[in-house]
Amino acid sequence: MDLRESIAEVLAGASGVLKQDVSDMLEVPSDTAMGDFALPCFKLSKIMRKAPQQIAQDLRDRIDKPGFVSRIENVGGYLNFYIDRAFMARLAIENVLEKGGRYGSSDEGRGRTICIDYSSVNIAKPLHIGHLSTTVIGHSLYNIFNFLGYACVGINHLGDWGTQFGKLIVAYKKWGDRAGVEQGGVEELNKLYVRFHEEVEKHPALDDDARAWFKKIEDGDPEAMELFNWFKEITLKDVAKIYELLEIKFDSYAGESFYNDKMQPVIDELDQKGLLVEDQGARVVLLEDMPPCLILKSDGATLYATRDIAAAFYRKKTYDFDKCLYVTAYEQDLHFRQWFKVIERMGYDWAADLVHVNYGRVSMEEGSMSTRMGRIIRLDEVLNRTLEKARDIVEEKSPQLLNKEEIARMVGVGAAVFTALKNNRIKDIVFSWDNALNFDGETAPYVQYTHARCSSVLERAGLPEGVLPDYAALKNEEARAVVSLLASFPETVENAAKRYEPFLITRHIINLAKAYNKYYFDHRILTDEDASLVKARLNLTEAARQVIRIGLSLLGIKAPEKM
Ligand code: ARG
Repeated sequence: MDLRESIAEVLAGASGVLKQDVSDMLEVPSDTAMGDFALPCFKLSKIMRKAPQQIAQDLRDRIDKPGFVSRIENVGGYLNFYIDRAFMARLAIENVLEKGGRYGSSDEGRGRTICIDYSSVNIAKPLHIGHLSTTVIGHSLYNIFNFLGYACVGINHLGDWGTQFGKLIVAYKKWGDRAGVEQGGVEELNKLYVRFHEEVEKHPALDDDARAWFKKIEDGDPEAMELFNWFKEITLKDVAKIYELLEIKFDSYAGESFYNDKMQPVIDELDQKGLLVEDQGARVVLLEDMPPCLILKSDGATLYATRDIAAAFYRKKTYDFDKCLYVTAYEQDLHFRQWFKVIERMGYDWAADLVHVNYGRVSMEEGSMSTRMGRIIRLDEVLNRTLEKARDIVEEKSPQLLNKEEIARMVGVGAAVFTALKNNRIKDIVFSWDNALNFDGETAPYVQYTHARCSSVLERAGLPEGVLPDYAALKNEEARAVVSLLASFPETVENAAKRYEPFLITRHIINLAKAYNKYYFDHRILTDEDASLVKARLNLTEAARQVIRIGLSLLGIKAPEKM
């Protein structure tokens, strides 16, 4: 049953106004002291030709108060409805329990596809701390849209094209060796690349060699291709460890080089549509209020944007997406605005379905990691340190646990992921281990611990089978706070999808965990009074446990039974 609809029905009967109209007028007061629903009667003054105060009074007198409403009050022209607490608790809790772990899911996305371009690794470069955001925001959006019934396509748009690969081949052939790279992985490749830049200062001719090697890659020369593909393999093997830890899989690794043979038709079309303009030998699309979008350099080379445009056409054709999301730092705002506009100018209305899901910078807390000048902060180092610290904490707090390593992994990964999903995307993040792993803060471990607490209460309960709950046990304010967060969870999931903001879910489960803990400390759950009352409290606990678990899983975080 839907409470709003039911109240609207009663009001429609009493006022003669259409049920749908009344339903739209009903508000949810921000202060629960003003009731659970309120009808601002001034909205009816025109239709009913009476003062709001009078309307409220008349309606109140005329309404046949339904059983689930405990009282109705007229306060300054507002008609406030107070829903019976026990009724509300039963409704919300049974709603959660009936869905068996799918509470908040829907089929709104049935038959529709969402492409999510995220993580998007650059070949021969290690993932850095900034990649934490794109990786976990993208992954979470994938989970959320999936939960809402969309088919999701996770795309790792590899940065695997550009003159830097010519440089890398030169560096490898001069100073590298196979075994060293096999062993050192991306780190070693990156070192070679850095060395190239040092040496080219003294020996500018190296640049010519690099250009020649890149040309060989473009021409498909076997030796060049063998090396290029091997660099890719080495990189992907390294990042696979991080994806394994985070339990992330991609549906496609089609990167920039995949579009080599797919750009010409796009360039031709731009030309035919008269959009390509010559600018100092280069070819560009002129845009209003923005710098032109560069399509071809004067030497005929294509650009990052050219590849993105070709990729968008390919994705539209291949997946027929409803939306295509690009989870990339806000430093690239202009890039996306430019080429989205180019597609619009080509006359494709699906340009409106391309969305740049941008996010802020990630940095480490001052002094928390020794970063040599200009050295990037590697994501795997940050994650490994987080795991180490999580191990220490688990060892200290729960030495008796049998699966300490598994729990430490859940806590450590959770702490890192949670940090990146805690605030709205655009906010810059300063990563701090103390904050991320604080069991008393707004953190993954805090929420996970609450989940484990719920599990433990349920395990200890030992009620006989078949006891029916008496929700009169949940008439207190602390239970009401939990119930209201249970009831509003599906709306939060929907909003998170609508705004591409996983943090709405993070916030929701932090609040739920806090509300449950407050309830837990203020009320005894397992008492020897009437088993039906105990059963109602256990159902509240089970529902809170499930919603926390669902919320965490949408963020890409595990919920331990014990901690
Ligand atoms: N590899 C790029 C980077 O690290 C991100 C790619 C984002 N996706 C895209 N289709 N442009 O900056």
